[in-house]
This record gives sequence, C-alpha cells and structure tokens, in this order.
Amino acid sequence: MPLSDATFEKFAQLLLDKVGIVLPPSRKRMLVNRIISRVRAHGMRSFDQYYDLVANGNDFYEWQKLIDRVTTHYTSFFRENNHFLHLRSLLVNRFKKGILRARIWSSACSTGEEVYSIAITVLEAMKEANVRYVDVRILGTDVALEPLQVADRGFYSEASINDLSPDLRAYFELIPGTSGLNDERLFRVQSRVRELVIFRLVNLCEHPLTVPNEIDVIFCRNVLLYFNKERQLQILTAIGQKLIAGGTLYVGTSEHVRGMLPEMICSAPSVYSKKEFLNQQHNDYVKYVPRVFLDAGELNSPGLSTLSPRTPG
Ligand SMILES: C[S@@+](CC[C@H](N)C(=O)[O-])C[C@H]1O[C@@H](n2cnc3c(N)ncnc32)[C@H](O)[C@@H]1O
Repeated sequence: MPLSDATFEKFAQLLLDKVGIVLPPSRKRMLVNRIISRVRAHGMRSFDQYYDLVANGNDFYEWQKLIDRVTTHYTSFFRENNHFLHLRSLLVNRFKKGILRARIWSSACSTGEEVYSIAITVLEAMKEANVRYVDVRILGTDVALEPLQVADRGFYSEASINDLSPDLRAYFELIPGTSGLNDERLFRVQSRVRELVIFRLVNLCEHPLTVPNEIDVIFCRNVLLYFNKERQLQILTAIGQKLIAGGTLYVGTSEHVRGMLPEMICSAPSVYSKKEFLNQQHNDYVKYVPRVFLDAGELNSPGLSTLSPRTPG
C-alpha cells in the first residue's frame, strides 16, 4: 500500500503540531512500517483514510496507538549515570540538613527505567544520610501510553538489569515462573521503590502542562532532540516555570540548550539550577497582583496561572 508524499506531509504536520515530533521525508519508510498494521486493522485501503481517522480528534484510542508507534522509547537504568551521582549528592545534602521533602518529575520517562533509577537513588541517598523517613514523590510522564503501562507494571528483563552493581540489583526481585521475550527471566522493581512513583500521560507540547508546580528536580532527557528549536524553547520555558527557584533540571548529555534557559545557571554538564533570586521576584509579583484580580477567575488565564501560589502536589 503506497504512502504518497502529500499524505506523508499531512502526517508529518499533524505530528509536529500535536506532539512536536519532526518527521523529515527520509522517515517516510519508517512511518509506513510503524503504522501499516493499524491501517490494516481497520480494514482500510489507504493511508488517507487512516489519516482522517486520527486527525479528526474523536478516536483517542487510535490517536494513542499512532503516538505509541511514532515515538522512540529507547532508555535504560542509570542511563547517563553522572546525573544520578549528582542527584544522589544533592539529596544527601538536603536530607542531612533535615529537608526531607522533594518532588521530582521525569518528563519523558518512556518505560520507566529513568523513574526507577531516580527512586533507587532516593533510597540510596537515605541510606547514606542515615534518615529513615522522607517525603519524596516521583512523577513519571510520557506522551506514549504503552511504555507508561510497562513502567507502571515495573517488570524488566534480566538483560536490562545485568550491568547494574549488586547493590542496585538488590532493588529488583526475581518473579518466579515468568519469562519475557526470548525466555529471559523477569525481575520486578521492589515495592518500596514502586511506592515512591506514579505515572501519568502528559504531552510536553500541551499548555499549560498538567503537572504540579514547584517541583524540586526535573529530568527532561533525550526528548528535546526530537523537536525543532522553537518547540525546544517553548518546552524548556514551560518546564522552567514548573521548577522551584533553586531547583535542578537535567537534560540529555547530547542535547544543546545553551541560550534557552535564561533563568538558570549551568551547575555541571547538562545540569541546570534555577536562579534563587527569581524566588523573591516571583513572590513579590504574586504579592502585588491585586487580590481582586486574582479572585476574579483570572487565575486560569495562561499568563497568571503559572504565577499563582498553589499547593504543590
Ligand atoms: C528516547 S526516550 C527517552 C527516555 C528517558 N528520558 C531517557 O533519557 O532514557 C524519549 C521519550 O520521549 C517521549 N516523548 C516524545 N515526544 C513527547 C512529548 N511531546 N511529550 C512527552 N513525551 C514525549 C517518547 O514517547 C519517549 O518515551
């Protein structure tokens, strides 16, 4: 079944508009390979018919199937490990000072390895700081649903945890009687790790972002590279507004964000801290917005919602 250049262009435009993904003409074959089974599943005779189905916005299930197929989900535990070493020392410092609360967001978490690596880092930091209780929650979000379902279940193949040190492997338990692809043994992340995390479907291109404000640490790694500069800037700005002053942002080590984060300082390679003094500016701004203005339902307007004092989730 052929995909004409014109129809490919329509798909490319739709995906660019809705999820920010850039599909150059060289990816036409990839698109055909990934969606042909969906076209056939509907008994359709052309890609145009399938385009109409997904573009009209009424079939959430099919739209999600398309997104799941066109997004790239490669990830691994403790990928770009320097970030986790950095996070660990950041958390140990906080815990030792008695700051036991932290809200952490992994904004393109794919199948969950990044989120569980963060959760394990929290538990390791607790050990190092010698604290028994913390108030930490980790939110994992992605635009693709199937990877999130994998993440939520928390089952992983032996191969995916093979390279971890024995200390880190101890956070996974063998599930007897199960086997994954290629008859590999399956392991599940322990419940004490899973208890720290929740997963939600969030599209980084949708504004306002439906995640809580005042987040302490945000991971936005290996997703910006799929977007054009304009979209990267838009997403980094939106994410920056979710970060508390003094909070930390991790981007992928091969992602170049120079000049796009004016409110942040680079504190280590691919690690950014939101400037502290903004906190004061932010508080002053909120303080001086007339009460009557805030009460008049204006809080929902895009300009003000990010400035409204809210209880973090
Ligand atoms: C290559 S994975 C990166 C996973 C993980 N952050 C890491 O560094 O290993 C990229 C993820 O970004 C997600 N993604 C792509 N576009 C997105 C969007 N508009 N909003 C949220 N997630 C998106 C994909 O579904 C995919 O799971």
